[in-house]
Order: sequence, then C-alpha cells, then structure tokens
Amino acid sequence: MANLDTLDLVVLLSLLAATIAYFTKGTYWAVAKDPYDNMLANTTGGAKFGKTRDIVKKMEESNKNCVVFYGSQTGTAEDYASRLAKEGKSRFGLETMVADIEEYDFENLDTLPSDKVAMFVLATYGEGEPTDNAVDFYEFIMGEDVSFSDGADPALGNLKYVAFGLGNNTYEHYNSMVRNVDKALTKLGAERIGTAGEGDDGAGTMEEDFLAWKDPMWTALAEKLGLEEREAVYEPVFSATEKEGLDKDAPEVYLGEPNKMHLEGASRGPYNAHNPYIAPIVESREIFTVKDRNCLHMEIDISGSNLSYQTGDHIAVWPTNAGKEVERFLKVTGLYEKRHTVIAVKPLDPTAKVPFPTPTTYEAVARYHMEICAPVSRQYLATLAAFAPDENAKAEMSKLGSDKEYFSSKVSSQFLNIAQTLDLVAPGAIWSNIPFSALIEGIHKIQPRYYSISSSSLVQKTKISITAVVESIQLPSRPDALKGVTTNYLLALKQKQHGDPNPDPHGLTYEITGPRNKYDGIHVPVHVRHSNFKLPSDPTKPIIMIGPGTGVAPFRAFVQERAAQAAAGTPVGKTILFFGCRSKKQDYLYEKEWEEYKKALGDNFELITAFSRDGPKKVYVQHRLKENAKLVNELLEKKAYFYVCGDASHMAREVNTTLANIIAEHRGITEQKAEDVVKAMRSANQYQEDVWS
Ligand SMILES: Cc1cc2nc3c(=O)[nH]c(=O)nc-3n(C[C@H](O)[C@H](O)[C@H](O)COP(=O)(O)OP(=O)(O)OC[C@H]3O[C@@H](n4cnc5c(N)ncnc54)[C@H](O)[C@@H]3O)c2cc1C
Ligand SMILES: NC(=O)c1ccc[n+]([C@@H]2O[C@H](COP(=O)([O-])OP(=O)(O)OC[C@H]3O[C@@H](n4cnc5c(N)ncnc54)[C@H](OP(=O)(O)O)[C@@H]3O)[C@@H](O)[C@H]2O)c1
Ligand SMILES: Cc1cc2nc3c(=O)[nH]c(=O)nc-3n(C[C@H](O)[C@H](O)[C@H](O)COP(=O)(O)O)c2cc1C
Repeated sequence: MANLDTLDLVVLLSLLAATIAYFTKGTYWAVAKDPYDNMLANTTGGAKFGKTRDIVKKMEESNKNCVVFYGSQTGTAEDYASRLAKEGKSRFGLETMVADIEEYDFENLDTLPSDKVAMFVLATYGEGEPTDNAVDFYEFIMGEDVSFSDGADPALGNLKYVAFGLGNNTYEHYNSMVRNVDKALTKLGAERIGTAGEGDDGAGTMEEDFLAWKDPMWTALAEKLGLEEREAVYEPVFSATEKEGLDKDAPEVYLGEPNKMHLEGASRGPYNAHNPYIAPIVESREIFTVKDRNCLHMEIDISGSNLSYQTGDHIAVWPTNAGKEVERFLKVTGLYEKRHTVIAVKPLDPTAKVPFPTPTTYEAVARYHMEICAPVSRQYLATLAAFAPDENAKAEMSKLGSDKEYFSSKVSSQFLNIAQTLDLVAPGAIWSNIPFSALIEGIHKIQPRYYSISSSSLVQKTKISITAVVESIQLPSRPDALKGVTTNYLLALKQKQHGDPNPDPHGLTYEITGPRNKYDGIHVPVHVRHSNFKLPSDPTKPIIMIGPGTGVAPFRAFVQERAAQAAAGTPVGKTILFFGCRSKKQDYLYEKEWEEYKKALGDNFELITAFSRDGPKKVYVQHRLKENAKLVNELLEKKAYFYVCGDASHMAREVNTTLANIIAEHRGITEQKAEDVVKAMRSANQYQEDVWS
C-alpha cells in the first residue's frame, strides 16, 4: 500500500467499482429508474421513489389482502401476474395488487397475516437463474441463514402462498425458479395453496398451462380463505381523460418519448432497460444473397453515450410498431378518428401504475408502448366479450374464450393479433365499447428485443454489430405473412439509410424519425445487457463454437477478437467454429470475413461448415461435430471451452446429446457418465450457451 499514490488508488477504486458493476449484470447500477420502466398494464404497488419497501405495510395502507409478485424479464410473467390480480378481484372480490418483486424487502414476510395471500409468478433464465428483478429476492429466500423479523418457528408458518413458474423445457434447468422458491417457502413452513404451476414455452403451451393451472388454484384458494365466487364484473384500473384543450404538439405531451428526459430533449445516461440511448446506425447491409429472406448486419455507434459492452454481451433494440398495424388497431377499437387527441391516464387504484408516460395520445400509445402485434390470450378474449359490438360477436368471443380447440383453430394457429382477431369476430365492426383501460390492462407493454452482439469490444469499442434475420412467416392459410415487429423496423431503417426516402419493407411503413423527429438521421433506441457468455480470459485456451444461422453472431465477435489478438502478437489457442446454414450460395454468413480472420489466425482457426440444403441429405452442425469427434474430444481434454448459440428448441439440445455421445465413445465411458461430464463442464462454465427460441 505504501507504494500507491493517490492516482493509483483512484484507478484501483474505479476498477473495483467497474468490476462490481460488471459482475452484477447491471442489477445495481440501474438506480436512475424511470417511473414507466419494466411495467405492464395494471401493475403495481411500487416502492420506488421513496415509497415503502415493506409489503406488509403497503398492503395494510392500501387495504389489500392479496399481492401478486412477479419476476419477469420480457413481460410474460408480469402479464400473468396482472391477470391473476384482475381475476382475483373480479371473480372473488379479493383486494389485489401486483408487485415487482425487486421493489420490496422480504424480512417481514413472516408478518403477513394468515387471512392474506402472496402469489409468486416467476420466470427462469440462463442456467436456471432468476430474472434481473428477482435476483435479490432469490438470494434472500435461498440463503442458508435466511431469517425473518419475528424469529418464529417455523419462520413462515403464517404465510399462505400461490406459485406459478414460466420456463422452457429445452433448457436444462427447467422452471427451476418456481421449483426452488416453492421448496424454500415450504421448508420455511409456508403453506402453498394449489399446486406450483409450470408453464412451458418450449412446448408452446405456456398460455394453456397457465389457464389449466389457475382454475383449480382459485377453487383451492376460495375454499381456504372462505371466498365466494361472484359474477365477474369488469372494473377499470385506469381512467383516461381526453384533454380537449391540449394540443398534441404541446411540449408536455409524450408522443412516444420513453421518459421525461427524452421528452425534454435532455436524454442522458445511465442508459439501461429503463432509459434507451437513441443511437446512430452508422452502417447497414444485407448479408443473404437471396431475395425472399433478409438478414441484416448493422453497426450501431455508442460513442456518444456512456454505454459500454464486452464481447459476448447483448444489445436490446426498442421497437416501433408498423404503421399498418397501428392503423388497424386504432380503427378496429374506434380510436382512429381521435388518434391525436391528448389523453391523461391515471390509476384508479393507488397500487396501480400507468405503463407509459402521460399525457400522451392514443396513437403514441399504440405505436410505441403496446405490443399490438403479439399473440392474443384466450382469457383476454373472454374479458372483451362484454364489450362486443353485437350479440353474435359477444357469443363468438365467449366461445373463443372458453373453447381451447376452437380458439386454436381460429386464432392462435393463424397467428392473429388482437386487431385481426376482433376483425375476424365481427368483420368491419368498430369495438368502441372497449374501455381504453381494458386495452392498457390486456395488451403487453412493448418489449425490447435482444441481439447477441456480433462484434468484439476489443476491436471496436464504441461500435456494436448486430446480425439479425428478418422475421417473416408465411402460413398456407393466411394471405399475408406474419412480420416480426423489430426486425422489419430494422429493415426499414436499412432501406432508409440506403437512400429510400419512404421505406416500406413488405408494405410496412414505420415512423422512422421517431417522436418529434428525435430519431432523424437513422437512429434506433437501444441499451446493452451484460451476459455471462464470455471467451476464456486466457486467449491460449482452445475454443469450440457451434453457431448455425444467426447463432453465429457472437462467434463473429469471438473470432474477430482472437484474430486481432493474434495480429497483435498475442499467442492464441485453437479456435474452431462449426457454422451451419441452408445453402453455401444463399445464407453463408460472413463468408469473406472468415478468410480474413484465417490470415491472422493461421492454422489456429478452423471453420467447419454444414450446408443443410445443398445435398441430398440434411447436414447439420452436430453431424459435423460427430465427424470431427476425435479432434473435439482431444481439445476438450485440453480444457477447451465449448460454446453453443442459436436455436434453443432443437439444435442446442441435439448438440448437447452429440457431445455426450462423443465423450462416451472416445473416453470409453457410459452415456450416463458422459452426460455427467457435460453437466460438470456446464457447472464449470466450460460449456456455455447463448440460445433462444
Ligand atoms: C438472448 C437472445 C439473443 C438473440 N440474438 C439474436 C441474434 O443475434 N440475431 C437474431 O436475428 N435474433 C436474435 N434473437 C431473437 C430476437 O431477440 C428476436 O426475437 C427476433 O429478432 C424476432 O423479433 P421481431 O420483433 O422481429 O419478431 P416478433 O414480432 O417478436 O415475432 C417473433 C415471433 O413471435 C411469434 N409471434 C409474433 N406475433 C405473433 C402472433 N400474433 N401470433 C403468434 N405468434 C406470433 C412468431 O413466432 C414470430 O416469429 C435473440 C434472442 C435472445 C433472447
Ligand atoms: N425455435 C424454433 O423453432 C426456431 C425456428 C427458426 C429459427 N429459430 C432461431 O432463430 C435463429 C435464426 O434463424 P436463422 O434463420 O438464422 O437460421 P435457419 O436458417 O433457420 O437455420 C440455420 C441452419 O440450422 C439448420 N437447422 C435446422 N434445424 C436444426 C437442428 N435441429 N439442428 C441443427 N441445425 C438445424 C437449418 O437447416 P434447415 O432449415 O435446412 O433444416 C439451417 O441450415 C436460429 O438459429 C434459431 O435460433 C428458432
Ligand atoms: C435467454 C433465455 C434463457 C432462458 N433460460 C431458461 C431456463 O434456464 N430455464 C427455463 O425453464 N426457461 C428458460 N427460459 C424461458 C423463459 O423462462 C420463458 O420464455 C418465460 O416465458 C419468460 O418470461 P418473461 O417474459 O416474463 O421474462 C429462457 C428464455 C430465454 C429467452
């Protein structure tokens, strides 16, 4: 210490702070939260902004007897929490509130009176990890020496709870959040009502799993708490007052700006999941050579922000809905003629929060804040039946809401969004009876989409590359293709950048210049999310990467980084990439670039390709892995890191199985033992996945 001068200390402390910030994945630096962040519809009793973090007190103050906590990353768990709260109130007269689990402390959970109930709706991420907003709760409840305010035994003997988990069976740690939390609560003496439900995104049954779980849960809860079911009555959570005297161009009116700083033109960091940076797109191009599919490569400049990234991180893009869909939605709900009318939206319940800033306009809400193109929930259609324009439509909505098969054949299998569904039920009719509150409550808040950054932070510190395939799904039974919200918006931005004054990819138009032209000059709102998908810190360690399709994105970054290190004279280990695509001539991503990296890395870089549609038989990356089994096993024995990116539902699983087969065969051990080896690799971070479905 004696040799450290002040500057050294400052540098050391900054490094320490940066390290803590990095390893907490943004959990702790997201302090300057916007009041409209990360919320859905009829949410919650917030403890933000100096309000209490004591849930028992909060419930007492607001006269609630049921709290629904949610742990959510992309809004689904939050939506389910809102729906449970709403149903509890309308069917059973429960006084419900929804709560973001990160906004409360749990030391006094033991003092929640036994005539009240806590519900937990929790999604699982990563290697069976909590969502960002549930990290503190999870660490607390799973802690070995967890203790509560009263010191009673059992600690949570008073607590009645309900639990539902959201997961995806293609991940190894399926629904581990709800499983672990349920176990922990039971161990602490709490009483679970009903079963701990599990929804499976992987099987595509999340919504039906939720619906099937909740009905018996309500029966059990009603019995336990002596609740009487009543005829469900709709009670709005928000009021929307039209401000006739206020012009939409008045400076205090939000036209899509995400928060006050953006409204006032003084946006500043920290930029995060609550506050996007309006970043310039400095370069964009298409990297497929076919006409009917598009894949974008984009370069996003973050030099004007305080954003930083590390190789392997994700960038989140904040989308804007297409004009055609905004129009369809406003027309069918009877809001089109007054789309520019200014509205002030207020919560009618003190524990509810409006999920977007107001005053605003109907159009701004539909364009920037609501996920109007998303799949429709069956339960929501049942709720909207009461507001149908005529008796036939009402009956049809009730049937869709209650008949799973009918709903599937008419709505979900056709990928209809809410406006398309309403139009199908009553063609040409206007659904102006639907209160605006019911739209806010029932339609998700629009969610940023994540992309695995395809550049190395060592090579381009302030420029982030994205590799995104444009979503377009043609169903035989529908004339128009389903168009992904974000990727088609990005495609329009690319077209604009390439000189098209009125880009309209596939007939879709976007408000590209953003609210009040604030995105003019090809900008896109973004933030960065740090991930654990990382190169070994020692560049001499061998790596094996499996990345078919856009799953190659982070591996472009990895190889770019290693090539730069090699060019700078740093010794670099064996770097093997298995890349798969449909055809060498159509979607061979970064074909020319790999040759450049090869020049820098020499024999240390090997690209092994699998073109699935160029020959008589499908060839996938896992087939190539098998063909190269000897090399793969040798490298693993030298402690190579193994990475997989791309499709979670099939590819990642099959690669896992193939690797276990290789290990079994080449080490002369049983399949079971080989599976254990792979599991151990995962635990040691030697096997890392960045997968999505
Ligand atoms: C960690 C992570 C990293 C990722 N990295 C990349 C990457 O590097 N490159 C990349 O291209 N993608 C990546 N993705 C996927 C990306 O985040 C987006 O999901 C993808 O680009 C589609 O977004 P979109 O808004 O265009 O489509 P969306 O509008 O969100 O639609 C996506 C899908 O949802 C379904 N859907 C949408 N609307 C309906 C409806 N009405 N009815 C039924 N189904 C519907 C369809 O299956 C559709 O294909 C990543 C995802 C994650 C989680
Ligand atoms: N969950 C899903 O059902 C689903 C569907 C599409 C895309 N995605 C995700 O979206 C990403 C982007 O898609 P993309 O358009 O870039 O890729 P893509 O072109 O759809 O696929 C890339 C390559 O992977 C092959 N592939 C298909 N099934 C595979 C499997 N089970 N194992 C290994 N390889 C397989 C494809 O072959 P063929 O197409 O010739 O069979 C193709 O050659 C994918 O990487 C994936 O993560 C998921
Ligand atoms: C990157 C990523 C990782 C995931 N990891 C897991 C996992 O380890 N286990 C699991 O059961 N589900 C996993 N899932 C599935 C999510 O839990 C599921 O999609 C859920 O509906 C998300 O809820 P949310 O929208 O509230 O965040 C993962 C999903 C993504 C996108």
